[in-house]
Amino acid sequence: MTPSSNLITIIASLSISLCSLYVLTSKLRTTTRSKHKTLTQNKPKRNGVVGAIGNTPLIRINSLSDATGCEILAKTEFLNPGGSVKDRVAVKIIEEALESGQLVKGGVVTEGSAGSTAISLATVAPAYGCKCHVVIPDDAAIEKSEILEALGATVERVRPVSITHKDHYVNIARRRALEANKQALQHINKTDAKHFTNTNGYLSEKVEHDAENSGEYKGGFFADQFENLANYRAHYEGTGPEIWEQTDGKLHAFIAAAGTGGTVAGVSRFLKEKDPGIKCFLVDPPGSGLFNKVTRGVMYTKEEAEGKRLKNPFDTVTEGIGINRLTENFKMAQLDGAFKGTDLEAVEMSRFLLKNDGLFIGSSSAMNCVGAVKLARLLGPGHTIVTILCDSGMRHLSKFCNPKYLSQHGLTPSAKGLEFLDYK
Ligand SMILES: Cc1ncc(COP(=O)(O)O)c(C=O)c1O
Repeated sequence: MTPSSNLITIIASLSISLCSLYVLTSKLRTTTRSKHKTLTQNKPKRNGVVGAIGNTPLIRINSLSDATGCEILAKTEFLNPGGSVKDRVAVKIIEEALESGQLVKGGVVTEGSAGSTAISLATVAPAYGCKCHVVIPDDAAIEKSEILEALGATVERVRPVSITHKDHYVNIARRRALEANKQALQHINKTDAKHFTNTNGYLSEKVEHDAENSGEYKGGFFADQFENLANYRAHYEGTGPEIWEQTDGKLHAFIAAAGTGGTVAGVSRFLKEKDPGIKCFLVDPPGSGLFNKVTRGVMYTKEEAEGKRLKNPFDTVTEGIGINRLTENFKMAQLDGAFKGTDLEAVEMSRFLLKNDGLFIGSSSAMNCVGAVKLARLLGPGHTIVTILCDSGMRHLSKFCNPKYLSQHGLTPSAKGLEFLDYK
C-alpha cells in the first residue's frame, strides 16, 4: 500500500468514527430530552399560587399496603402551597364570597381556626387583594400562630371555651367581621347608611359598592368554615373528582377524620354519585361525638353536649379533627360506618410512616392512616382504600412531633412495627 492510500484509509476510518460518534451522541441527547419530557408533560404551567393548589399526587403508602394486602393510597395534601388540605377550602370560600359581593377587594377575611384553615386563608388572601384576621385557641401549637403572623395576618389567641360561649374563638371571629363592616359604614357616605340592611352582618349591595371607595375600610367577611358549604364544595368539585380520576374509578373505599366535615362530605358525596358501591368511612379521635353519630345516630348524652362540659371536650393530642356538634358541612357526608382511633395509635402511626416510608405527617393524617389500616382489616386483602395526608409534621413540632410533650402525656411511641394495630 502506498503512503497516500494509507492516508486515505486513515482519513476514511476517522470520518466513519466521527460520524458514528455524532449519531450516538445525538441519539443520547434525544433520549435524555424525551426522558425529561415524560417528567414534565401533561403538567401545564399553573397560574400563580392559587393555580398551584389542588391536583396533589395520589401516592401508594408502601409499608401499609404491603402489611395489609390492600392498596392504601393517600392524597398528599401537605404539598399544597399553604401546606394543607385547607388551601382548597380557603380558595373556594374567598372566591364564592367575592362572587356574591359579600367580600370586596381590600376587605378582611376573618376566621376562627385552630390553624390550618387560617394559614391557608392568610396564604391565598393576598392573591385576591384581601387581608386576613384570625382568632385561635391559645392551646393550639405555637408555630401555627407564628406562621400566621409571618404571613401578614393579624392573630388573636384566646382561651378555649365552649362554642356556646360568646367568646369562643369562632364567635369572636364572626364578631370581628361585623365590626369591620360597621367601621366601613362609618367611613362611607352617611346618606348611604340607610341602605344598610344588616340582617346577616354583611354590607348591602349599595353600601358594599361604596365601600370599594372607602379607603382602608372595606368591610369584613366571616369565612365560617364549619357552616359555610363552600368548604364542602371545594372537596366535591376538587378532591373527590381528583381521587376518581387518579384511581381510574377503581377504588373500594375512602376514609378520613372530620373537623368541619368538609372533606368527608365533599369526597363521599362525589364518589358515591360516581359509584354507590364505594364505601365511605369516618375515623374519629378521642373526645369527639361523631363516631356515635355515624354508628348510633346520636351524638352525645345531654350531659356531654357542647356547652355542658366543664372542660375542653377535645381530650386529644390530635389537632383539627373531632367535634361534638353537627356542622352543616358534616351533614352533607354519606358515610357507611366509623372507627375510633386513639392518640397513641396516631403517634405510633406517625413514627412508623416516618421510619418506613419517609413520610413526615401531622396528627390528623396519622389518624387517617390508622383508620385506613382498620378499614383494611374489615374489608380484607385486595381492596383499594384512599385517605388524606392533610398536613405535614412541620406544623406539629411543639406537640404531636415533640418527644417531651408526648412523654408528659404518656404517649411515647414504642412499637417496632404495626403491632399496635395487630399487624406484624
Ligand atoms: C390539619 C387538619 N386536618 C384535618 C382537618 C379536618 O378536615 P375537615 O375540616 O375537612 O373535616 C382539619 C380541619 O381543620 C385540619 O386542620
